[in-house]
Amino acid sequence: MNSDFKAVVVRENNGEVSHAIERITTEMLSEGNVMIKVAYSSVNYKDMLAVQTKGGVIRNYPMIPGIDLSGTVVSSENSKFKEGQNVIVTGFQTGMTHTGGYAEYVRVPAEWVVALPEGLSLRDAMVIGTAGFTAALSIMTLEAKGMSPDMNQEILVTGASGGVGSVAIQLLKKSGYKNVHALTRDESEIEQLLAIGASSVLLTHDVLPEKPKALEKQKFHYVLDVVGGEVASAILPQIYYGGSMSMCGNAGGIKFNSTVMPFILRGVSILGVDSVNFPSENRDAIWKRFANEWHIMSQAIVKDVVMENLDEVFENIKAGTHTGRHVLKIV
Ligand SMILES: NC(=O)c1ccc[n+]([C@@H]2O[C@H](COP(=O)([O-])OP(=O)(O)OC[C@H]3O[C@@H](n4cnc5c(N)ncnc54)[C@H](OP(=O)(O)O)[C@@H]3O)[C@@H](O)[C@H]2O)c1
Repeated sequence: MNSDFKAVVVRENNGEVSHAIERITTEMLSEGNVMIKVAYSSVNYKDMLAVQTKGGVIRNYPMIPGIDLSGTVVSSENSKFKEGQNVIVTGFQTGMTHTGGYAEYVRVPAEWVVALPEGLSLRDAMVIGTAGFTAALSIMTLEAKGMSPDMNQEILVTGASGGVGSVAIQLLKKSGYKNVHALTRDESEIEQLLAIGASSVLLTHDVLPEKPKALEKQKFHYVLDVVGGEVASAILPQIYYGGSMSMCGNAGGIKFNSTVMPFILRGVSILGVDSVNFPSENRDAIWKRFANEWHIMSQAIVKDVVMENLDEVFENIKAGTHTGRHVLKIV
């Protein structure tokens, strides 16, 4: 392996955070018993936050961001992984308190590593990344509450043009769901969302009521929410009796307003989704589904970037104008 190599490094100086591409050595990498040569990473909402001042993602500087990575094992002190094996790492502390995927090499604990399943390439794994993994967890969470392709239910996906939202629509379509409605703020996304499998596209300003009421006309049985804030507050009173909403994100704000009415009069449930600390022993099975019945690569909305043009992607995510997934090619 090279004695020095390329990485994005986030530094803090007098409370101001900045990032740059630097040449570093393995000394800068966090500890771990599996060393991986990184092939690809991806750009998630959280990676954008990681490079902001007071972004709330990185606690100790300097730090290498990148919450996702796929690559090849260089050395392993754990018998589960062997030199030359292709692997995936998403979540846990990667790119937060532990140096992450925006570097040519990463060193992580074996418990964070998943073997790349047959049928997925290293790039495919990063087209999915944390966003896709979270979309999958959200769907599984709603299915555990009765969502089923056999039931003709009305399903809404918020933040539809983003990473989690767009993959969720593709997975729902692939699973045979018929009435999948995409909610977006962006009229120019309508065609694309229909093309990836939405049966209809709703615009956010049409769905937000002028005067929010405790209960509205019932329109959706299941809601996969990635936006939070005003959007989630407005949708909750529109959920059918006995329906559920999964919540995984806060792109539209962390504050959420509700009365108790949807819960006590309609038996509606809110279900939290977390991909970061999702147990490692249950991850393999989900990645195998992406390689088989959830293989969505032919429809994926994806662009490739390199370290040198990451900033443009961060700006788009920050401005809420980002669409689909961005895969970061490391070398
Ligand atoms: N819980 C977990 O484990 C987990 C894992 C992954 C992601 N997340 C969270 O999920 C959210 C989405 O992540 P992502 O990677 O998919 O981000 P993303 O690609 O930037 O997508 C977010 C989408 O939300 C919508 N949006 C953005 N700003 C908005 C605003 N101010 N008001 C209303 N809608 C807005 C936009 O869709 P439209 O333009 O189509 O409306 C945007 O494309 C983030 O909050 C992220 O932190 C959580």
